[in-house]
Amino acid sequence: MKKVLILLIIFLILPPIKTNFLIRSNYMYEKIIEGIHKYYNNTCILLIHAIKEPVEPKVGIETYTRLKDLQLHFSRLNIRTAVMDIATFILKIGGSYYHIKRPLFVLLNDSEDLRHQFSTLIAPSIDMAYPTWLIFFRDQTSIDDFFRDIYVPFDCTFLVSKENFDLEFEAEIITEVYQVYRGLELRREIFATWNIVDGIVYPKLSLYQRRSNLYGHTLRVISIEDPPSSMIVRDKDNRVMGLNGFFGGIMELLQESMNCTLIYESTDEWGYLLNNGTWTGAINSLIINKSDIFAAELLMTTERLDALKFTTPLYSTKCRTFIKRPATSVLSWDKYITPFADDIWSALGVIILISSAFIKIIKSVAAVITFQDAQNDRVDSKFWDVVFSVFGALCSQGMELSTINPIRIVQFSIHLTGVVVLAAYSAALISSLAVKIFVMPFTTMEGLLKDRTYRFGVVGESADFTFFQNTSDPVMSVLFDDVLVKETDLPLNYLEGLSRVCSESKYAFMALDAAVSQLKSSVDCILVPLDTISQTSIGMALTPDSPFRGIINNNILLLRDSGILNKLLNSDWALPGDNTQDAWSTVEIQDILPLIVVLIVSSCTSIVFLCSERLIHIKMAHNRRKKNVNLIKGVKFPMNDEKLFKGYFK
Ligand SMILES: *[C@@H]1O[C@H](CO)[C@@H](O)[C@H](O)[C@H]1NC(C)=O
Ligand SMILES: *[C@@H]1O[C@H](CO)[C@@H](O)[C@H](O)[C@H]1NC(C)=O
Ligand SMILES: *[C@@H]1O[C@H](CO)[C@@H](O)[C@H](O)[C@H]1NC(C)=O
Ligand SMILES: *[C@@H]1O[C@H](CO)[C@@H](O)[C@H](O)[C@H]1NC(C)=O
Repeated sequence: MKKVLILLIIFLILPPIKTNFLIRSNYMYEKIIEGIHKYYNNTCILLIHAIKEPVEPKVGIETYTRLKDLQLHFSRLNIRTAVMDIATFILKIGGSYYHIKRPLFVLLNDSEDLRHQFSTLIAPSIDMAYPTWLIFFRDQTSIDDFFRDIYVPFDCTFLVSKENFDLEFEAEIITEVYQVYRGLELRREIFATWNIVDGIVYPKLSLYQRRSNLYGHTLRVISIEDPPSSMIVRDKDNRVMGLNGFFGGIMELLQESMNCTLIYESTDEWGYLLNNGTWTGAINSLIINKSDIFAAELLMTTERLDALKFTTPLYSTKCRTFIKRPATSVLSWDKYITPFADDIWSALGVIILISSAFIKIIKSVAAVITFQDAQNDRVDSKFWDVVFSVFGALCSQGMELSTINPIRIVQFSIHLTGVVVLAAYSAALISSLAVKIFVMPFTTMEGLLKDRTYRFGVVGESADFTFFQNTSDPVMSVLFDDVLVKETDLPLNYLEGLSRVCSESKYAFMALDAAVSQLKSSVDCILVPLDTISQTSIGMALTPDSPFRGIINNNILLLRDSGILNKLLNSDWALPGDNTQDAWSTVEIQDILPLIVVLIVSSCTSIVFLCSERLIHIKMAHNRRKKNVNLIKGVKFPMNDEKLFKGYFK
């Protein structure tokens, strides 16, 4: 009974623990929280303390009222505000803090109780970088002491507000603290200042302008041999020394601007999701935190995004299947006729006939008027001969010049027509010879599937492979089940796959447009794409809890804005066996085959004609001779056929 009485007296005499509960005046709390809230555009404020419910009897009625006033004040400003102790926070919010968008978590004081609960219950269990943190410190509390076993990640905004006693009036200095990495030195920088006269003064620089330095922190970069975008540089003992290609360039620039150290390692496997939910290859290496960055041409697929953090996309490209261009172009027989439409051909025919007729008529008329002139004129006088020479003139052959002026006029106009017609015909023919059309066996994935004679490959153990494994597209899934699974050794990278397309007779390979446009000079055949399968983005992967995504993205965006990223993307990375193919398109035998056929056919026809004429002639001569022999026998000499007669008596 006595003990209870003493306890009661002590309880009544001792002031409640309010001295380290609300350690600032309400006004200062309001102004500073408001200021931070305004800067970060937070949607709600959570005032966190360490005293378990019910709060009122433990802190005293006056403090409790002040706490309620504080909440009321923010509510009046239409800011959703809650007051919560850490135990309730863990119980009620726990892992679902992700449902609150951009929260501002305010730790009202720096009591040892709060520090303890915060460092054991909150800090290890939530993603510290998600909310904005603000804590109020008393003057005697040291920052290093408070944060001794709390990890404040690099991308976390943790603000510490301390009173500034240098000024005569009430003022605060708000410091931000962070660590480059777990276990490293706590870094601090003044974020903002507040005083009762000027209010809050914000920083002039953005987050990653303030935190642009990793102070030599080591990042482990894993990559894969995938020319041209990532090529591993090795020394003579086959140790990995660095990275070349587009991703090597990016990493070098990042290293410079972030002041970090990079160590490189290589892998042979991109990594894909096994059925039991574990990843293989480089992706697994990130998940188990053996590497920090996977710098290679990585497709940002849904499964990968679920498992890892990705940087902002570096570029986007299309995913397509490539096959070797068929060796021969299409043989078109009408290539030499198509330059002119049918009516032009008929018009030309009519022109030849009419002008020949004119020449013939003029000649006959001239013969009637001036007999001598027409007699001396060397122009042919038979109609079909005239037609032939007019045709020749249109093919830019010469024509026997007439002595009769009207005929000369006709000849002149025929030559003019010939020049124009020939020029037009040559132009159209040349362009049609220069542009080649290749007959593709198919142009779509469906065609590839129906064709059944082609083999199909993708990069093994990669996103390309898993894409097929889990596709909902019926064509793709049949392609996977029937064609792809039969492939026993899938290529390791795009270069290998594309080389296989060239070296094997019927091999189709899925690759990215961006890779192919760089690689097409390194393979020795011409690749043609089928239809687009999907549009994809390429980024680099980071560990699932990497604090460096922000700073890397920031630097990538700077590179993009300054155009360096584009330059890097378009620069030619030296490749093994680079052969620059000339851009000339050559005319192949198919293109002139019709001409050759016409030539041969007409030569043969002429020989056939010659032979038949000759045969007929011999036959006729023979017949005549027979007749003559008969005549001689009847002593009746054919006096008019002297030649035959002479030959007979030789
Ligand atoms: C808050 O919103 C303002 C205006 O909408 C914007 O200018 C500012 O960048 C935002 N601040 C942050 C940290 O997102
Ligand atoms: C980069 O980091 C090193 C190692 O910590 C440091 O000595 C150096 O001052 C830093 N450089 C810059 C420009 O901050
Ligand atoms: C999944 O399977 C692989 C190999 O089949 C094995 O190495 C791994 O341990 C398995 N993971 C789990 C979580 O069972
Ligand atoms: C992929 O397919 C496997 C079965 O083949 C299935 O268990 C898994 O959930 C699928 N994954 C996705 C992301 O659809």
